[in-house]
Amino acid sequence: MRTTSTAATPPPTLPQANDACWCGSGRKYKRCHKRSEGRVLPGVVSPMRPVPAHIARPPYADTGEVTAWEESRIKSPEIIEAMRHAGKVAAEILRLSGAAVRPGMTTDELDEYVHSLYVERNSYPSPLNYHGYPKSVCTSVNEVICHGIPDSRVLQDGDIINLDVTAFIGGVHGDTNATFCVGEVDPASKKLIEVTEECTWLGIEAVVPGKPLSDIGKAIENHAKAHNYGVVRAFIGHGIGQQFHTDIQVYHYYEPRASMIMRPGMTFTIEPMITLGGWQHRMWDDDWTAVTADGKWTAQYEHTVLVTEDGVEVLTGGEGAVSPCAPWNR
Ligand code: MF3
Ligand code: CO
Ligand code: CO
Repeated sequence: MRTTSTAATPPPTLPQANDACWCGSGRKYKRCHKRSEGRVLPGVVSPMRPVPAHIARPPYADTGEVTAWEESRIKSPEIIEAMRHAGKVAAEILRLSGAAVRPGMTTDELDEYVHSLYVERNSYPSPLNYHGYPKSVCTSVNEVICHGIPDSRVLQDGDIINLDVTAFIGGVHGDTNATFCVGEVDPASKKLIEVTEECTWLGIEAVVPGKPLSDIGKAIENHAKAHNYGVVRAFIGHGIGQQFHTDIQVYHYYEPRASMIMRPGMTFTIEPMITLGGWQHRMWDDDWTAVTADGKWTAQYEHTVLVTEDGVEVLTGGEGAVSPCAPWNR
């Protein structure tokens, strides 16, 4: 019987892509229920969580409107010191958040916990009301590339989840993310996560004063390609400091036009999104959640880095940061 009820459940044996859909719609399975089966679906988003008044807020916190101002690409020693602290705070929150990931919990419960970690450390959750973003952390599950919004979806055993934490403290932002396993994850997805972290560190090692920013993407893309993985093109690393996102653009694939020379004192993020399939993305109707066009799973890692006189300092790295293949864990 034909039914359009959302309560319709798939049969134990699913049709082939070009067969008629099991729901009786008359459409091909691939044009009907196959589109959502096994995919992450949007849940219910709870109200914004308040931040206590004693915590210093970035300018957009009250309005959700982001007004950019001129900010030097080369940071002063004072700003750099503040960014070291913000980076450390973000790194610690990320590690603790990742350790809390369990099958059966919702991403909203995760947001509640992460929110409390920011507040305990007297930091403002930078994502909260940034261009109106409603939560304190981005939770990107499976085929979600980035900017997933915590909601009522329950984490399933076998999911992978990226947590993207940005802390605003001392007038500056520290931005870092990592991908975590929910329970027991299949080997192909584990490998993806591992190689994505390697890509991130190869990108970080390409940070050398006097060299062009394009060296970073070159290193990342080469490693991803060697594993037959896709490199997402629509989202890039960014300058960071007193503002969450500034004008420095860090491509994660080789972009010869990224000819800006890295100079000591520059701060930016490196945050490659690597896929088991293609690089193409689609946006959900919420205008935040980016998913792979082909539904293949994707992983990401992110660090905030400083260009030094002779190389790089990872402001969101060091002891206490979650990064299994970082130099200090090798
Ligand atoms: N932290 C993300 C990044 O790496 C940005 C999140 S924007 C938000 O650039 F509004 F979704 F929080
Ligand atoms: Co970032
Ligand atoms: Co981030």
